[in-house]
Amino acid sequence: MSQNQNSDALSRHQFLRQLGMQGAALLAVYCAGQSLTACSKSSDVTPDPLTSAITVDLTSSTNSALKTVGGYIVTNNVVVANTSKGYVAVTVVCSHEGKKKVQLRNGEFYCPEHGARYDLTGKGLNSEGSRGLTVYTVTQSGNVLTIS
Ligand code: FES
Repeated sequence: MSQNQNSDALSRHQFLRQLGMQGAALLAVYCAGQSLTACSKSSDVTPDPLTSAITVDLTSSTNSALKTVGGYIVTNNVVVANTSKGYVAVTVVCSHEGKKKVQLRNGEFYCPEHGARYDLTGKGLNSEGSRGLTVYTVTQSGNVLTIS
C-alpha cells in the first residue's frame, strides 16, 4: 500500500465517519418529523381558501334557512350560519380529518364524523376540534352577504 493509498483510506474513513454523524443527525430530524406527522392526523387537510368572495342573497328561497337564528347553508365549501352573534361563515372542511361535514348545531359548529366541536370564532372545543376552524369575514349590505 502506497502512502497515497493510505491517506485515501484515512480520508475515506473520516468521510464515512462524518457521513455517519450526518446520517444520524438526518435520522433524528426524520424521526422528529415522523413523530410530528404521527401526532397530526390532518396532513392532508387544507381548508379550501376563498379564491374569490362569495355573495349570498338573503331574499333567495335557496337561502331561506338563514332567515332564522340557528339556520345555515353550505355554499362553495363554506358554511354560512345565522347565529346568536350574527352571520358567521366558516370552512365546511373539518380540521380533524378533513371531512366536508361541518355544520351548525346548538349554537356551535360541529362535525358529525367524529364529533369535533368549534365555537363561533372557530376555536376548538374538544380534542377532535383542537386545530380550530377557518373563519371567513362576513359583511352585509342590505340583503346581500359577502364572504371573503
Ligand atoms: S373529520 Fe370531523 S370530527 Fe373527524
